[in-house]
Amino acid sequence: MSAALGAQRAPRTAEPGDFGRALLAGLAANPRSVPPKYFYDAAGSALFDRICALPEYYPTRTEIGILRERGADIAACVGAGAHIIEFGAGSVVKIRLLLDALYAPAAFVPIDISGEHLHAAARSLRRDYPQLAITPVVGDFTAPLALPALPAGARRVGFFPGSSIGNFTPCEAQHFLRQAAHLLRGGGMLIGADLVKDPAILHAAYNDAQGVTAAFNRNLLERARRELDAEVDTAGFDHYAFYNVPQQRVEMHLVSRHRQHITVAGQRFEFAPGSAIHTENSYKYTLDGFRALAVAAGFRPGPVWCDANAWFSLHWLEAPG
Ligand code: AVJ
Repeated sequence: MSAALGAQRAPRTAEPGDFGRALLAGLAANPRSVPPKYFYDAAGSALFDRICALPEYYPTRTEIGILRERGADIAACVGAGAHIIEFGAGSVVKIRLLLDALYAPAAFVPIDISGEHLHAAARSLRRDYPQLAITPVVGDFTAPLALPALPAGARRVGFFPGSSIGNFTPCEAQHFLRQAAHLLRGGGMLIGADLVKDPAILHAAYNDAQGVTAAFNRNLLERARRELDAEVDTAGFDHYAFYNVPQQRVEMHLVSRHRQHITVAGQRFEFAPGSAIHTENSYKYTLDGFRALAVAAGFRPGPVWCDANAWFSLHWLEAPG
């Protein structure tokens, strides 16, 4: 997640120490799975930035195009003097496009679990936006948070680009949006959602020709070797990504090429040929489906902006006061 930059970053919600626990629990489970937030160590974040620049990976450049073209409409929804709350310190490109489009934004509050990344992003923005109060908050944006106080008359506006919400199941997404609607009450939320489309386009986006997505997926096991001293032949696992049509999600798995085992913290996990670890879901939405989810979470959906192909959507959601 959540967790997430250059081009676009996913939410960073992992603490060191959590990874080991999550990996052991995920390998002991049936089916085996590890939450995607653990992709994003330094190497994983760098691989993710490369994904965002791939010719097959349309979401980042499509959303940036929408932000560029629809800045005036977005600014009209957000209003003057807003406090922008970003869930996960994300793409430096995207937040700058948003800030440049808005009328006199008063404050910017990026929330991210990685303090180092957060403070670096804040430093670079402070240089260019001297009028903006920048208050990074180190924390997990999926948990209840204390935000800087809001002066009377000001309103909070959430920013959650990149379709990072796609890593949540629809049920988790509704829960997250409900918390956000409360936090942002009286304001609103600008949120990106990747759209249901031709499975061939989705397939290509998660199976790029250069193998960057495969390296990103395998980095989970590389990270286990680096951080946890896990014994694992990372080349013995294949990247497998496909679009699950009825579930409206891209799934990523690491599939064992042969019979082997992984050892983590003295525990041994056997893999038969073809057995796998489920590493990510990336849910896709229809426009109506996403708006219905927002309504169920307590938002009033407003305008939605898409690219000409209707591949990606950016939604304005009002949070009732
Ligand atoms: C950061 C969750 C939006 O689902 O497209 C990219 C992560 N995984 N390629 C996505 C990802 C494989 C990305 N999100």
